[in-house]
Amino acid sequence: MELDKVIELRRSNRSFKPDKIAKSKIDYLLNCARLAPSAANRQPWHFVVLEDTRLAIAEIMVKQLERQNNKVVDRSYATRNYSPTASVQESIKIIKEAPVLLLIFRENNANWLEGDYLSIGCAGENICLAAANIGLGSLWIRDVSYTRYDIAKYLGLDDLDLVTAIAIGYPNVENYRAKKKELKEIVTYLK
Ligand SMILES: Cc1cc2nc3c(=O)[nH]c(=O)nc-3n(C[C@H](O)[C@H](O)[C@H](O)COP(=O)(O)O)c2cc1C
Repeated sequence: MELDKVIELRRSNRSFKPDKIAKSKIDYLLNCARLAPSAANRQPWHFVVLEDTRLAIAEIMVKQLERQNNKVVDRSYATRNYSPTASVQESIKIIKEAPVLLLIFRENNANWLEGDYLSIGCAGENICLAAANIGLGSLWIRDVSYTRYDIAKYLGLDDLDLVTAIAIGYPNVENYRAKKKELKEIVTYLK
């Protein structure tokens, strides 16, 4: 597909069919992620592909919501602006529904914090565009970051920093185009 068509077509997809995704398609997405630019070419990412295990991730998020609702304060979450409820509940529903959950971890390195986060953003966007290119839907789910330590520990990857998740699957609905700012609102040309 032409690049501008793919960019136009990519939308956040929040309703998925249960159909499985062929491994070759997931490999295609990850190969596109691998080719993304990265600060100092550090390629600071590590990708984890979950199918059934995604349900355990959803359960970890449910448990944290329950702890939050019971007002049990856990210091590991207190550093973040934690106001989950509706957004996290919706994300849990989507994680259960989409057949694949990709997790993107960052190598722990405090010196490269900002650059590495930007690099991971590039890799994530490549995944979403590649998904759109082959008829798959995708959704960034930053909501996993509230339970980043629990999830990493559960997966035995606590030496890495969980940055985000991307749900992948076949779209169940036609997605509307989210309202975007006009160029004149966001661009300044200077001579
Ligand atoms: C870094 C990042 C984190 C996001 N986290 C979530 C999330 O946790 N839950 C969710 O439903 N959508 C999430 N989104 C999707 C945005 O809500 C969506 O991109 C935005 O509303 C624009 O819609 P569009 O992607 O269809 O253009 C996230 C997007 C980005 C880029």
